[in-house]
Amino acid sequence: MNTIGVIGAGQMGAGIAQVAAQSGYRVLLGDVSLDVAEKGKAGIAKRLARAVEKAQIEQADADAALARIEPQGDHAAFGQATIAIEAATEREEIKRAIFASLGKVLSAQAILATNTSSIPITRLAQAAPDPARFMGVHFFNPVPVMKPIELIRGLATADDTVARVEAFAQSLGKTVVHANDAPGFIVNRVLLPMLNEAIFALGEGVATVRDIDAAVSLGLNHPMGPLTLADFIGLDTCLEIARVLHEGTGDPKFRPAPLLVKYVEAGWLGRKTRRGFYDYSGAEPVPTR
Ligand code: 3HC
Repeated sequence: MNTIGVIGAGQMGAGIAQVAAQSGYRVLLGDVSLDVAEKGKAGIAKRLARAVEKAQIEQADADAALARIEPQGDHAAFGQATIAIEAATEREEIKRAIFASLGKVLSAQAILATNTSSIPITRLAQAAPDPARFMGVHFFNPVPVMKPIELIRGLATADDTVARVEAFAQSLGKTVVHANDAPGFIVNRVLLPMLNEAIFALGEGVATVRDIDAAVSLGLNHPMGPLTLADFIGLDTCLEIARVLHEGTGDPKFRPAPLLVKYVEAGWLGRKTRRGFYDYSGAEPVPTR
């Protein structure tokens, strides 16, 4: 059975592991400890159980997918992986440390891919065991639901690496798009200015949280309003991407909204801290402004 490694058992890593396991891959799911990796697997088990309840998948298929996911507390077993996907916290020093550790165990043919949403691939490649077998593979949240995968090659990425990762992405039933290694790639370059502008509008008193979300979600037929989506992504992640766009292009149109900076400084990071533009501590989200 083809083995895939996923490093990071959070929202993105667990989603990638779930989709790969449901597509028939054996998945090594690593995180900072076995306990954290097992918690990631437990979350996947819940989502698979819900899919069975909704009669979207058979119980036997859910059981088989879950059995293919093997939580790991260290990287020793990752030598068996044909592709290792790093989906850890969006901090460069953390990613570099993971690449250094994987470099000791990955096989000479293995590909290392990163799910970074904002860090330049060519720069990250400098910390990879082999820049020719390194590239970006950007999934969207929630991974089991969202169709596209952005593939981003660095300057040194080999054609064969792109071809193998593209075949893998297609085997997950995803739609592949190719992007150059430019700040924000495609989706975040287009998305972040919209989210940021909604936050500027809120900060300038144009409308309330509820009205901005209702107007944009209904007016543009988006499944979520921009402030709900920003909370869903995480306001720290939104700020990080806005800064990458601003610094990477030097264009002031990408400057982060002051209110976004303030919320992140307050530790109001959205759903994950139960407070962002909405308060998530009750049964229903309540707008905070
Ligand atoms: N994990 C797995 N599946 C999930 C999920 C999760 N966290 N949340 C929802 N789902 C699934 C549900 O199981 C359901 O599946 P089904 O229709 O097959 O039963 C489906 O999504 C719809 O869910 P719900 O009916 O509960 O809720 P909604 O209809 O409100 O949809 C949503 C939820 C799919 C999240 C929808 O609101 C949506 O598409 N929102 C926009 C998401 C988006 O824009 N994501 C991209 C973010 S940008 C990004 O990821 C890039 C990064 O770099 C920042």
